Amino acid sequence: MQRVFSGIQPTGTPQLGNYLGAIRNWVALQQRYDCVFCLVDLHAITVSRTPAQLRGDTLTQAACLLASGIDPEKHILYNQSAVSAHTRLAWIFNCVTRLGWLNRMTQFKEKAGKDRENHSAGLYIYPSLMAADIHAFKATLVPVGDDQRQHLELANDIGEKFNHDYGVDFFPHIEGLIPAEAARVMSLRDGTKKMSKSDISAQSRIELTDSADEIRLKIRRAKTDSDAIPATIAELAERPEALNLLSIHAAIVGEKLENVVAHFSGQGFGHVKSALSDALIEKIVPIGDEARRLMNDEAYLVTVLRQGAEKARSIAEPIVDEAEKIVGFIR
Ligand code: TYM
Repeated sequence: MQRVFSGIQPTGTPQLGNYLGAIRNWVALQQRYDCVFCLVDLHAITVSRTPAQLRGDTLTQAACLLASGIDPEKHILYNQSAVSAHTRLAWIFNCVTRLGWLNRMTQFKEKAGKDRENHSAGLYIYPSLMAADIHAFKATLVPVGDDQRQHLELANDIGEKFNHDYGVDFFPHIEGLIPAEAARVMSLRDGTKKMSKSDISAQSRIELTDSADEIRLKIRRAKTDSDAIPATIAELAERPEALNLLSIHAAIVGEKLENVVAHFSGQGFGHVKSALSDALIEKIVPIGDEARRLMNDEAYLVTVLRQGAEKARSIAEPIVDEAEKIVGFIR
């Protein structure tokens, strides 16, 4: 059976983009595949985090994933740093990856901005660790949002170069599973910026633990324009905020965007915002309630992660042992 692998950074509370772009699909894929879901705490420290933030966010994310429907009995949920196979393979991949490949990564350029010299080396080699995450499990299916597309292409380049350089057929090809709707949910304050759990403005995103009142308020305040909804998607091309709200609505109610646009055509945003708030509250608030309940039981969350790490080790350690033998390390 093909194996699914995906990860999320414990850098805040999961937001609507994480949910629609990734988590919701992870839950669905559990019906058909063996799945491994990882809280990537090694990736999280590529930017500054206090120990309390990292620990708290890791537990919050575990709670949100469980509350969303991740099943830790049938599948695997753990935190990355607990499985040393990640860093062992990442080192080998750091020596396979070419600097030119890393220089092309748009996410590094966005995160480092103009202050490149002051960022960590970890942030720069982040994509090589991400490739190791996936290949350590020989996973072939990777459900992610659109922003991870370039990293997955790089993971394939790295796997192929390893296979080529060592004359083996060891790491398989990876396929990204990117949803048709809401693969890139945008900020509620700026339709040209991605919704992100690390954005300084909490008004820019819906978090999975938001209350009904918070959701209603954030959607009411979401940036829009004063024009009515047009008849077709094409007419939304220059209206990123309008397009974003309608796309979120389509994704959350499970409709095609074109049908949603046709449905609201001719109406103003008051109407869309009220329907969208209702739909979001129905889906998100029960997840938040369950996540809060789980967050009160830290011992349970820690046990789930430890047991997950044990299962993860039993798969990844033998694969990375083999990769190290291929490289020529004496064992
Ligand atoms: P992260 O933590 O930024 O996001 C987790 C998942 O959520 C998706 N996502 C979005 N989808 C739609 N709209 C958005 N606004 C939005 N924001 C985030 C992301 O695409 C991702 O699927 N590098 C990864 C974590 C990672 C990983 C891996 C993923 C580490 N190793 C191996 C897959 C396989 C990241 O930073 O995700």
